[in-house]
Amino acid sequence: MSMSVVDLGTRFGTSIASFLHKSSTFFPNQSQLGTPDFECIGVDIDEIHRGDLEGRGYRFMCGDLRSHGFRESLPEADFYLVCNLLHHLRSPRDQSDVLCCALEKARRGVWFRAKSFEEDATSGEGVLISEGLRFCWSRDYSSYSISEITALVRETLPEASLRVEPAKRIRHTKDKRVVPADTKTDSFFYAAAMGPKVYMELPKPVVCEWDIFVENKIYETNTDKT
Ligand SMILES: C[S@@+](CC[C@H](N)C(=O)[O-])C[C@H]1O[C@@H](n2cnc3c(N)ncnc32)[C@H](O)[C@@H]1O
Repeated sequence: MSMSVVDLGTRFGTSIASFLHKSSTFFPNQSQLGTPDFECIGVDIDEIHRGDLEGRGYRFMCGDLRSHGFRESLPEADFYLVCNLLHHLRSPRDQSDVLCCALEKARRGVWFRAKSFEEDATSGEGVLISEGLRFCWSRDYSSYSISEITALVRETLPEASLRVEPAKRIRHTKDKRVVPADTKTDSFFYAAAMGPKVYMELPKPVVCEWDIFVENKIYETNTDKT
């Protein structure tokens, strides 16, 4: 069986590689479909990534996902991936347009991986803030919270099944994604020039990236679109 996957904001195509490796874990209800051949397309605003994608045997489409016309030109596919892209789009309108585009064009499922913009002190940035620290992206970027993304998914695809899982956790302030709270930076990594930070084990692990898996129930069994 052949299936298709489209990866939005692909850069080097690493999310496609992770998806191909873990697709049956990510979408367990699709596992009865056997081991499909995947036709993969990476999409990015930067033409420089064409070589990376074509070198891996994938197709590449270059364009700006903020453009309605470009989104319209994207093909339907079995799966859409939207990993570490939303915060780059900056405007909430562009973020919801791209989210909805993925939900509408994916026949079987969508894998979203999003940086945490959660502020709570249970597993969010609140744990860091209480130690005088923060995520490096939390001031210069913005994105929907997990509850806003799940609300949007429910509104767009009320019948779909939805799973939210921590993707990556920070356990120690030495982690490069942790910076002093008062740092002004748009970098994604701590640098000594940002000033000293305390190195300590965190009292609770902090989730820095979340996965959201949306599965279209129609395709949970071994049915094929006709
Ligand atoms: C942080 S990288 C994510 C790469 C990959 N998805 C991953 O998770 O490893 C974000 C990518 O999105 C692309 N990008 C940013 N804004 C975009 C836009 N408006 N349209 C299409 N691609 C965009 C960037 O060029 C970059 O390659």
